[in-house]
Amino acid sequence: MRKGIILAGGTGSRLFPITQVVSKQLLPVYDKPMIYYPLSTLMQAGITEILLICTPVDKPLFETLLKDGNQWGISLHYAEQAKPNGLAEALIIAEPFLNGEACALILGDNLFYGDALSTLLVDISSNSQGASVFGYHVANPTDYGVVSFDQFGKAVSIEEKPEQPESQYAMPGLYFFDSRAPHFARQVKPSARNELEIVDVINDYLIAGELSVKILGRGTAWLDTGTPDALSEATQFIAAIEKRQGLKVNCPEEVAYRLGLIDAVQLKTLAQPLLKSGYGEYLLRLLDDSNNRVGPASW
Ligand code: DAU
Repeated sequence: MRKGIILAGGTGSRLFPITQVVSKQLLPVYDKPMIYYPLSTLMQAGITEILLICTPVDKPLFETLLKDGNQWGISLHYAEQAKPNGLAEALIIAEPFLNGEACALILGDNLFYGDALSTLLVDISSNSQGASVFGYHVANPTDYGVVSFDQFGKAVSIEEKPEQPESQYAMPGLYFFDSRAPHFARQVKPSARNELEIVDVINDYLIAGELSVKILGRGTAWLDTGTPDALSEATQFIAAIEKRQGLKVNCPEEVAYRLGLIDAVQLKTLAQPLLKSGYGEYLLRLLDDSNNRVGPASW
């Protein structure tokens, strides 16, 4: 059974002074902590056993907020990353937790939203062999891992923050790997910026001909939240969608309820302490909203 990893460490230095004493992934994105978004994304992929990796200082805060996951019908575990040595280190830290299983690794500051995204993720999670990653057209590819394609649409190169990008397709921070990923991660050498780069692990799969790259199209939003502007834009985006639709984006309680991981009684209990903010009322509305019988069409 594929397991999930959320990497939520790092210094958040591009958001200083905001993140000098609080983890970036605990900051709000509109009406909920940032970490709720990647967590909900993994849940929507059908993944219920998840390891959250964060700094030793932040660990008690994440544990207080998210507990053991049982309240949302999932199982949450915690591990520390002492220093931000790079994304690939997450696979090494997670190795005992994974215990030979395949995984999905998501970055704690990456937000995904889109119709049919959940169906796509469930499909990849259940059927992906080797590694599966995504490509997303962006205006500023030099800020990301960039994937380029040949004339047949086959991925031919993956580069981290190239000065001269070969394409406009950035690679979002959501990666599906088979059970060999920790082994590949252990072979990675620190890069020029002294990090164990995730692109090196992905390139191992590319070279072996075992990498699948799926394009996330225009109808999907992939937002990152690493700078004050990006954070503010993400908040405005989520606020606009939620107000317009009257549906919350990546609300873990709702995802758990719609997936049948928790029942109505549990949802009601979760709502009680959240009533003053309106978040709890939203959860209660799900109970008598006849629309929710049509299933998980919107998250
Ligand atoms: O957002 C997608 C991009 O994320 C990818 O396109 C890049 O290929 C990938 O390297 C990464 O790029 P960034 O340079 O933007 O990653 P950043 O250093 O901002 O870290 C991303 C998240 O991971 C952030 O929430 C902090 C956390 N992190 C990062 C590092 C390096 C850790 O928890 N530990 C780490 O060692």
